[in-house]
Amino acid sequence: MGVPLLDLHAQWRQIADEVKAALEPVYDSQYFIMGPQVATLETEIAEYCGAVHGVGCASGSDALVLALMALEVGPGDEVILPTHTFFATAGAVSRVGATPVFADIDPETFNITAAEIDRLATSRTKAAIPVHLYGQVADMDPILDVCKARGIRVVEDAAQSIGAKQNGRRVGQTGGDIATFSFFPSKNLGAMGDGGMCVTNDDELADRMRILRNHGAKPKYYHKLIGLNSRLDTMQAAILSVKLKYLEAWHEGRRANAADYDKRFAGNPHIVTPKIKEHNWSIYNQYSILITNGQRDNVMAGLKERGIGNEIYYPVPLHLQECYSELGGREGDLPVSEKAAKEIFSIPIYPELTNEQREEVANAVIELVGSTAAAS
Ligand SMILES: Cc1ncc(COP(=O)(O)O)c(C=O)c1O
Repeated sequence: MGVPLLDLHAQWRQIADEVKAALEPVYDSQYFIMGPQVATLETEIAEYCGAVHGVGCASGSDALVLALMALEVGPGDEVILPTHTFFATAGAVSRVGATPVFADIDPETFNITAAEIDRLATSRTKAAIPVHLYGQVADMDPILDVCKARGIRVVEDAAQSIGAKQNGRRVGQTGGDIATFSFFPSKNLGAMGDGGMCVTNDDELADRMRILRNHGAKPKYYHKLIGLNSRLDTMQAAILSVKLKYLEAWHEGRRANAADYDKRFAGNPHIVTPKIKEHNWSIYNQYSILITNGQRDNVMAGLKERGIGNEIYYPVPLHLQECYSELGGREGDLPVSEKAAKEIFSIPIYPELTNEQREEVANAVIELVGSTAAAS
């Protein structure tokens, strides 16, 4: 039968009429840039997260850039971030002229740890970016303690974790100076194109990000800062406001799928399922498993043959990427991340998965892990 890694058609069938209706006023107004739907969404997202301000922008990548710019991170500064993340986390640091410093991860949650930030901090460390990977919040209390003690600002990269909770609090109330979200279509709250948002409780930072995303101008044509063009489209905002109403139900769908996979894989000696810490509430943007018998690539190939979508998030740790070779990262520097990159991959977890589809995916993984192990 086959199961795609993500089936946006299934979601579209649910919301098509509402989205089309929400776009009508945008067509009618022809107000495509910073129309009123943008401010509405900013308020809705801030409220949802329990934060004071939401600042929409063009992507999750730009949200990180705007956050770092607002915090005046620039040349000569170091920023600590996990090596096991999407490139954009590091790319944003480089784009503001600062130097990324790559940290290893916790082997169970795949998130950066306070101990790593403490180990890597220097007098030049201006900020740290804990990434809340796959839908699970990094352990913020110890991270905030270390950062506070060392005067390090904190940007939470929550591109994959809008709505995720720690100790009952959603990202946005988890203590960082700014949290950033991505509305890339594969995210739990995905636009129909690119989009992103920063949330913060700090009035001054919010104001700076609002100015920075619009060429640094306030008022128009009077440039206080050197900013960029990074606004959230009115159309995307209108679409996202519709989708936001479904977000909790979609999170619950993913969580139920994850619980089902957890059960199906339980006891298999070669499959490690995601570990969600007790104080965390994951939104499972990804369901990432480890194949520990050296057969990950064969399992993936076997799934592909059966039409079952899967992908490695992420195959090459950032300290080993060609573009960062000048920073001198070597194989062996960050062993937990390097091992994860060799063993990890993700399987379909989108909320509309049926019981039959989950069964097909799980049975295929279990069969392939067994048969590839036997064949090797
Ligand atoms: C961890 C992480 N950071 C940043 C980004 C960048 O977001 P975007 O694709 O919206 O620019 C993504 C999304 O792909 C991500 O997963």
